[in-house]
Amino acid sequence: MHRWNALFSTIGIVSFPIVFLAIRVGTARARGAEVPPIRYLSEQKLWILETQRTTYVMGINEQGELQHFYWGRKLARDEDLAAVHSRPEHASFDSPETMTSLEYPGWGGRQYNEPCLKVTRADGVRDLVLKYASHEIRGATLDVYVKDIMVDVFVKLSYRVFPHSDLIRKEAEIQNRTQQAVTVESAQSGVWHMPSGDGYRLSYLTGRWAGETQLVREPIHQGKKVLESRRGNTSHQLNPWFAIDEQGQADEEHGRVWFGALAWSGNWKLTVEQTPARQVRVVGGYNDFDFAYLLKPGEALTTPAFDAGFTDGGFGAASRLLHRFERQEILPERSRGRLRPVLYNSWEATTFNVTEEGQKALADKAAKIGIELFVMDDGWFGERQDDRAGLGDWYVNPKKFPRGLKPLIEHVNRLGMDFGLWVEPEMVNPHSALYRQHPDWVMNFPGRPRSEARHQLVLNMAREDVKEHIFSVLDRLLAENEIRFLKWDMNRHFSEPGWPELPADEQKKIWVKYVRNVYEVIDRLRAKYPALEIESCSGGGGRVDLGILQRVEQVWTSDNTEAFDRLRIQEGFTFAYAPKVMMDWVTDVPNLNGRSTPLKFRFLVALQGSLGIGSNLHHWSPADFELATEMIAYYKRIRRTVQEGKLYRLLSPREASITANQYVSEDGKQSVLFAFLHSQQFLYPAPTLYLRGLDDKAVYRVKALDDRLLEKQETLSGSYLMNHGLNISLRGDFDATSVLLEKVDQAMPAGTSAPGLDAVARHSGNRPGTLECPGREFGTHCALAGELEGRAVGNGVGEAGGH
Ligand code: DGJ
Repeated sequence: MHRWNALFSTIGIVSFPIVFLAIRVGTARARGAEVPPIRYLSEQKLWILETQRTTYVMGINEQGELQHFYWGRKLARDEDLAAVHSRPEHASFDSPETMTSLEYPGWGGRQYNEPCLKVTRADGVRDLVLKYASHEIRGATLDVYVKDIMVDVFVKLSYRVFPHSDLIRKEAEIQNRTQQAVTVESAQSGVWHMPSGDGYRLSYLTGRWAGETQLVREPIHQGKKVLESRRGNTSHQLNPWFAIDEQGQADEEHGRVWFGALAWSGNWKLTVEQTPARQVRVVGGYNDFDFAYLLKPGEALTTPAFDAGFTDGGFGAASRLLHRFERQEILPERSRGRLRPVLYNSWEATTFNVTEEGQKALADKAAKIGIELFVMDDGWFGERQDDRAGLGDWYVNPKKFPRGLKPLIEHVNRLGMDFGLWVEPEMVNPHSALYRQHPDWVMNFPGRPRSEARHQLVLNMAREDVKEHIFSVLDRLLAENEIRFLKWDMNRHFSEPGWPELPADEQKKIWVKYVRNVYEVIDRLRAKYPALEIESCSGGGGRVDLGILQRVEQVWTSDNTEAFDRLRIQEGFTFAYAPKVMMDWVTDVPNLNGRSTPLKFRFLVALQGSLGIGSNLHHWSPADFELATEMIAYYKRIRRTVQEGKLYRLLSPREASITANQYVSEDGKQSVLFAFLHSQQFLYPAPTLYLRGLDDKAVYRVKALDDRLLEKQETLSGSYLMNHGLNISLRGDFDATSVLLEKVDQAMPAGTSAPGLDAVARHSGNRPGTLECPGREFGTHCALAGELEGRAVGNGVGEAGGH
């Protein structure tokens, strides 16, 4: 028996115990007992997928098609659910298959909506009509097999439920069980349907290099809105995330929001479509532009995972669900619950001009302010003096590092910091030994130009030999040196994506294989070097998605490190991705756009994600060092809350002159508020900040970073903080502040009062000592000294779990 058929024959039987289980669900729920997250109601032919707060229902209609039924707030009774029926034909122009909300439509028959699967068979037939074949439920996973009505093209539709994050994952595996080749021309992961109706609004993230993750909102009308990348990686220009609400009714805290993200770091596409039947649907998967994936008999193609969820708690709740999901289900397992270290990166200080002595001098200063991970960026390898040469030659430049990397790494380690290194493995400069040796290793169309960008070409990582070469180069680097962290960069997009070594009808596989091989190299390196951590970078935030986040600890948010611009970039980022993975550096001014903001402002902006310093420390004054030391110590005190807690976006930089964000720790014991002023209009007060996510009845010790907080009470109740709110007085331009709240029962030793920071005060223009609360219990040098000596004074790095 063919291996697919053998598998198929076992599947029908498996669902019977589940049917029995489903009948019992009503009673079980009434008794308060646990009910399985996925159930099949055999009489109605419905599957019910349940998370903690949501229900998703689909069924098999009278045509044998998979039909969507419901996705929203949790339903109370299975008994309310009736079998699904396709919509009738009203006119010859409105076919039932176009009017019906199909779960995974093939392109065939009279299907005019965006399909999930389009194929051409070797005999030229392009018609594909998918109907139910069988299914299997395994705990939180459901596999439904659909099959073409005439030939053995099967699709395994996998659904996985993540109960705690209220998310569901859709993935498809297209299986060619026929005797002839099938070319897949569009392979989507699935469709998400909104309830029928009009007036939906789409939120999405757009941008460009140095201006990523800008939130855009617009009404959805009949037709299609395509969000996509055709660039070979995720792209700065659009990010594979969406959120949809009704009539623009949702805000940060209220309203129904359907949201999702695609786990793919290559060409992707989200089609947001409103059909003539007033159905809004989001189809997502591989971009079908220039797509052709040949499946020989017995071969299969898996789509990226498409994760989505629903909440009636507005965009804030949607983000918090995604953040938790990313921290608990997406990030590499060993990084879950572990806090990110404070990082120093040499790029903006030295650019390509790195040397052993220069880096040591920076490391000495970095260690003193509390840095835990010292990263040497571009410039250490091959003939690299600028961006014209060196990529591909991953040997240590002997002039810059005559004794190799070891003395530098040992120096960094002796200072109590881990060492990290920048690499850009997928690229080659034509001016390199690798390119001279293997000009055929770059993607190219023979006889055609090879377009350079930043003087570099893209290695064809889809090729086995190239992939193995990259793996072995990095393997050697990691084996020979104590490197704990790689910043994995990719500084240009694909062009002329030819793979001439393959037959013409297989060359377009490059789009998929390239990404899979990048993933494979990272996965193998991580398996071999379990302590290795990775940052995904692509000229800033060009490769940020749920696919890469399964294999890296953090991402470089943007090459734009200018603090005020960053407020918007970071805000947009947090709609889709967790603050924990968002790298924020403090850098020098004036920056990219010529703007200068105070160091305190820059620090507070950067404290809202994973903190890094990218300044040239040789340019800092003693006062800057003092402020930095205190800010980093403050960060270590709040970082579990920032990285692992819940984010409430109180005021948006898109809407007001004041931006405010609040983080609440998972256990609710700590909360931290950040507020930023762009420019003050004389006399007008800042709006009251109503805090969120606190315990109404609890009492919190209030610790203001400076004198900007108008409430001077030592403690305040959750009720006051959320209902009366806090008032702050930010003045002039680019003023900023932070307030720390700690639940009294577990917080400070008795007798301590709310502290301020001397250096912060000076940077804020206050006279030290005039602060309301001049204690020093956060930002203390003693705590910092302890951390540097013992590396364990509760800074949380390396601690697992512990919410
Ligand atoms: C682009 C990155 O985004 C920068 O941070 C830096 O690493 C440069 N590449 C180095 O070439």
